[in-house]
Amino acid sequence: MNYICSKCNTKIDVSTRKAKCDCGGLWKLDFKAPKFDLSLVDKSTWNIFRYRAFMPLEGEFWRDISLGEGLTPVIQFDEDVLLKMDYFMPTLSFKDRGAAVLIAHCKAIGVDSVVQDSSGNAGNSVAAYCGKAGIECEIFIPEGTTPKKIDMIKSHGAKVNVVPGGRDHCADVCRKKVDDEGKYYANHVYNPFFYEGTKTYIYEVYEQHGRIPENIFVPLGNGTLFIGVIKALEEFLDSGIINRMPNVIAVQSEYCDPFAQAVENKSRYPAKVTPKPTMAEGIAIGVPMRGEEILEYIYKYNIKVITAPENRILETRQALAAKGIYCEHTTAATYAAYLKYCELYGKTSDSLIPMCGAGLKSDH
Ligand SMILES: Cc1ncc(COP(=O)(O)O)c(C=O)c1O
Ligand SMILES: [Zn+2]
Repeated sequence: MNYICSKCNTKIDVSTRKAKCDCGGLWKLDFKAPKFDLSLVDKSTWNIFRYRAFMPLEGEFWRDISLGEGLTPVIQFDEDVLLKMDYFMPTLSFKDRGAAVLIAHCKAIGVDSVVQDSSGNAGNSVAAYCGKAGIECEIFIPEGTTPKKIDMIKSHGAKVNVVPGGRDHCADVCRKKVDDEGKYYANHVYNPFFYEGTKTYIYEVYEQHGRIPENIFVPLGNGTLFIGVIKALEEFLDSGIINRMPNVIAVQSEYCDPFAQAVENKSRYPAKVTPKPTMAEGIAIGVPMRGEEILEYIYKYNIKVITAPENRILETRQALAAKGIYCEHTTAATYAAYLKYCELYGKTSDSLIPMCGAGLKSDH
């Protein structure tokens, strides 16, 4: 199995320790999943690896790595909204989908030590799966990250470095370590195996719900769920499961919105923004590394990008909690953006909204 460079098309075996191509381009997988068909799903495996027929897995390493991630319920929240409860996960966020596949890959190629930067949840997932796999792990997180996420990461045995400054700077510090010390970068944005996990979000919706909803809301920071969703929907188009792209709506933070601004300016590049502190810490990404790739999808499929109103995140979180849904602020932001979308465009029935992170992970 090979990676292909997204810039110069160089091919390299996926066992490479290089985080990206020498030309600076990020890797893509040279892999095309077979046509999606429910008969190929292994119904006796109760985790995301039931979809392994559509993943580029190497060997059986996933069996020892899985923590029972995935198969989160889809609930009918009200007459218009389906919630996919992705905080029902081993580390309480959707990132477990990607981390399980990424760490299975690390195990398969014999990596024994990794570094990773994160706003909290991805680091938490990578730390947990490294713990399960017996891989040494060091996580870089920006200062201001909720202490509960830091405690969880430490509890899995990972070393935690809290980096002063914002999320983008934190990534720079971690990548310097990768460059200087040749560490393996088990990163959710760079490593293409991560998306092979996040695409199961859509597989599950189809298997559980029997069809794909018309309006699909997705938070968009670095785009790990977004890219997984688009990949899976493209596979479904290819397999004839759907005959057109549903209406995908990407949600950014009002205080950090490089994609929303790019679309406004019809640009192929994420806008240069100066992020302001936001409660939606999970999507506060000023410099998304797969920005051009994401914008290509946005224009190709006419995807709308909207921003979550910062002043409504707390009240939305409370309103959801009052109905039994206890999510973290970034996730409440996605729902607040859905409400804003309805105000702008009218009642939006048949909407799917991911509940990406659990309320217990953030402060009140
Ligand atoms: C709760 C939550 N929602 C959404 C996201 C957004 O994911 P991405 O940055 O991959 O777009 C994150 C990322 O950390 C998150 O933690
Ligand atoms: Zn290249």
